[in-house]
Amino acid sequence: MSPDRGRFAPPQPFTTTAPPALEIDGLYVSYGGMRALSDVSLQVPEGAVVALLGPNGAGKSTLLRAVSGLVRPDHGRIRVRGVRVDRRPAHATARMGVVHVPEGRGIFPSLTVEENLEMVRYAVTDDIDPVHGATVMFPVLGERLRQMAGSLSGGEQQMLSLSRAIVSKPKLLMVDEISMGLAPIIVQQLFDALRERAQAGTSLLLVEQYIDAALELADYVYVMDKGRIVDVGEPADVRDGGLVSAYLGG
Ligand SMILES: Nc1ncnc2c1ncn2[C@@H]1O[C@H](COP(=O)(O)OP(=O)(O)OP(=O)(O)O)[C@@H](O)[C@H]1O
Ligand SMILES: [Mg+2]
Repeated sequence: MSPDRGRFAPPQPFTTTAPPALEIDGLYVSYGGMRALSDVSLQVPEGAVVALLGPNGAGKSTLLRAVSGLVRPDHGRIRVRGVRVDRRPAHATARMGVVHVPEGRGIFPSLTVEENLEMVRYAVTDDIDPVHGATVMFPVLGERLRQMAGSLSGGEQQMLSLSRAIVSKPKLLMVDEISMGLAPIIVQQLFDALRERAQAGTSLLLVEQYIDAALELADYVYVMDKGRIVDVGEPADVRDGGLVSAYLGG
């Protein structure tokens, strides 16, 4: 992998002329004058799974926040299926089918599991009942519907968080370190749900520290360090190139 491979644009193996699900070009983001992203370019082809890896503080979460409209870029362009979103409010981007599962637990701990699921009913476009959809995906949630979400185990909270995102069948789903601190068997269940959604057509951008699961699912991998993209390739390139150990301590 050489960094002079034109703007890190990955090859497009998909026989489609559709614009990418996500296209980021020359993105700069700062927090109060401190630069967090510098000249970041990245593509998620329509229907693809892209993993974004990198050490703590690399800027992975900032990139997702910029796409969602939670932070404003200093420079650069963000397009979702060809449409500029970097000057739009977050709710307008959300309405385009962009869903962001944030770092930590993206749920309301003092509401019940059922109430957490009912809240996304507005976003579900077809006849699927969100409570039913989530409990089919993760049957354990069906046994916990009347429980406060904050009283669930860490893995169950992430199942709730992910199922809230998935039942709306997003066009682009961005998931930030959902496997953090969880047992491998739980991580596998979460990734099974992600795989199933990807196969049903949702484009995925996964920020992960659980590298093996991410590399298994991903079509492309980007590696970030200190606010910049330092490599991109297919999962085998990233392993063979020693990038995992060089940047991620794996
Ligand atoms: N709200 C904020 N205010 C100020 N600086 C921030 C803020 N959020 C992040 N930063 C800084 O921006 C840089 C990128 O942070 P970011 O959280 O995007 O990294 P990350 O790759 O997601 O890290 P981690 O793996 O620890 O989640 C870091 O230097 C961080 O300290
Ligand atoms: Mg982060």
